[in-house]
Amino acid sequence: MIRHKIQSAIKRRSSLLSPTTNALRLVDGEGDDLPGLFLDTYADRWLVSTRANSLDPDVRAWLESLGQNGQTCYWKQLDQHEKTDPTHLAGPAQNQPFTATEHGVNYQINFQAGYSQGIFLDQRLNRQRTRDHASAGKTILNTFAYTGAFSVCAGLGGATTTTLDLSQVYLDWAKTNFQINHLDPSDHFFCKGDTFHWLKRFARQGRTFDGIILDPPTFSRDDKGKVFRVEKDYAHLVALAHACLARGGWILCCTNCRKLDPRDFTRMVRHGAPGATITSLDMPTEYSGEHYLKSHWVEKA
Ligand SMILES: C[S@@+](CC[C@H](N)C(=O)[O-])C[C@H]1O[C@@H](n2cnc3c(N)ncnc32)[C@H](O)[C@@H]1O
Repeated sequence: MIRHKIQSAIKRRSSLLSPTTNALRLVDGEGDDLPGLFLDTYADRWLVSTRANSLDPDVRAWLESLGQNGQTCYWKQLDQHEKTDPTHLAGPAQNQPFTATEHGVNYQINFQAGYSQGIFLDQRLNRQRTRDHASAGKTILNTFAYTGAFSVCAGLGGATTTTLDLSQVYLDWAKTNFQINHLDPSDHFFCKGDTFHWLKRFARQGRTFDGIILDPPTFSRDDKGKVFRVEKDYAHLVALAHACLARGGWILCCTNCRKLDPRDFTRMVRHGAPGATITSLDMPTEYSGEHYLKSHWVEKA
């Protein structure tokens, strides 16, 4: 019964897969009547995620049978305390980083890089939107950038990008993502450091950007150890970004904080960017379950 539901969910999304998009959510928990079970594909390597700490035996047996026919499959438990690599479950092991493609854009994926694999698939439409709003002569700042997926899209749109993250490992990964899209990283800026610190610094210097991406983790610490929590502090973050935004510029405000009511999120964004025009953005249609990702497009008059 479960494997039948999984097969139906995959079939429903098959038209979204193409030579230019091979990274996608194939099963979305409750939305497919499979609570707590998720399946993502990255260039035909599968990653199953579960809320439970074990996999249903029938699902495991089915995946193992697919593995015998060459389907690579890994598994990870969601929300676990220890953020470990996914476990190899079936098919050929994927021990090296590899490339997946979304709307013709390449991203390096790694199943040995810890809890996250290099790209958050739920941001597909927001990445596309960023690319559509980037053009030559524009400057785009990607804060909390992780592997720079938004920066690559902005760079492909023609903009000059600044990619900002606390982690040098992720900044190096971002440079690789530029290279595998035939963008020269030396035409762009990469900043290692704290977003809060840098936004204040840019404002002091009078430096402005035409577009800013704000997609912070739910919880973060700045370089002085001060804690940031999305539920309490998002308005402050938006205000810091708004102070560095050029006239006519935009901020993409996102959060995947499940606990945060969408109305509270809107209220905080409005508070941080008074007078701006705010448009709410939808998650990709393959996310048929919980709509946890909240995204606003904020335009400065
Ligand atoms: C959830 S990921 C962001 C995902 C990214 N926006 C994307 O869509 O690919 C969080 C990232 O924020 C970075 N980070 C956390 N706290 C930070 C801070 N205070 N300043 C800058 N980067 C931070 C982490 O290193 C990590 O790469």
